[in-house]
Amino acid sequence: MHLADKVALVTGAAQGIGRAFAQALLEKGCKVALVDLNVEVGKTCKDALDKQFDAQRTIFVPCDISNEEKLKDAFKKIVHHFGQLDILVNNAGVNNENNWELTIQTNLISLIRGTYLGLEYMKTENGGTGGAIVNIASLAGLMPAPHQPVYSASKHGVVGFTRSIAMASSVGKYGVRINAICPGFVNTPILQSIDKEENMGQYSAYKENIRDMMKFYGILDPQLIAEGLIKLLEDDKLNGEIMKITTNQGIHFHEYSPLPFHSKMQ
Ligand SMILES: NC(=O)c1ccc[n+]([C@@H]2O[C@H](COP(=O)([O-])OP(=O)(O)OC[C@H]3O[C@@H](n4cnc5c(N)ncnc54)[C@H](O)[C@@H]3O)[C@@H](O)[C@H]2O)c1
Repeated sequence: MHLADKVALVTGAAQGIGRAFAQALLEKGCKVALVDLNVEVGKTCKDALDKQFDAQRTIFVPCDISNEEKLKDAFKKIVHHFGQLDILVNNAGVNNENNWELTIQTNLISLIRGTYLGLEYMKTENGGTGGAIVNIASLAGLMPAPHQPVYSASKHGVVGFTRSIAMASSVGKYGVRINAICPGFVNTPILQSIDKEENMGQYSAYKENIRDMMKFYGILDPQLIAEGLIKLLEDDKLNGEIMKITTNQGIHFHEYSPLPFHSKMQ
């Protein structure tokens, strides 16, 4: 996909990885809708981007993605504002083992809802012009995370959903490519949640162990995750791929065994 003048919607865009995504998409000439529930940080992000890019190229839309009606309204507002939707990045996520239902709701249920809404607008059969969806999972979606079992479950869900819906898109000729990114630890505010009992609940006692894991695996820069996003968006051959980003191997793809029956379906 040639990114200049494409319209992208990024959830959780106010800070961290989402903000790096917004920056990278703007640098490629996209128009970007910044969706986030944190109004204060969202406005600060928009103000900072306005200093670098034409203010008309971004819109900040405050929205709690876990609220179905508000999410629908946000999509509607963005498509009305920019006249189209070409790229959806389902990035917003939380790390909360204490309120684990919130983790499933935000990281998985709302991401699925976002994907379905995105498809409604982008699918060629609905009159859309096609596009690309990128879901943000985690390495914890491919391997166990002993201190974050529900976070890990939510991210395994994102990986399974992404691979399956990508295949549905290919079989149904939606014209939309759907891929996921699984980063290792990334230097963003979410890492602070590891120190908070209100987030970690019963796993708080093991925080030193998580710190040791971080030291072992290292911590990535959000810009590298944004590089991975751009690669997934620009390469039209990629659909149903699970991109991994790690300190020792950089940007690469998870390799799965072939699926002989499924490959006949595509
Ligand atoms: N930082 C890491 O180590 C890491 C590693 C792998 C995957 N991830 C994933 O990357 C994504 C981005 O994480 P991050 O590290 O930038 O975290 P972050 O906490 O810095 O940013 C997340 C953003 O999402 C927003 N958000 C949270 N819940 C929301 C909701 N219900 N509605 C709208 N916005 C909401 C927050 O306000 C925040 O701006 C998440 O899905 C996270 O699970 C992060």
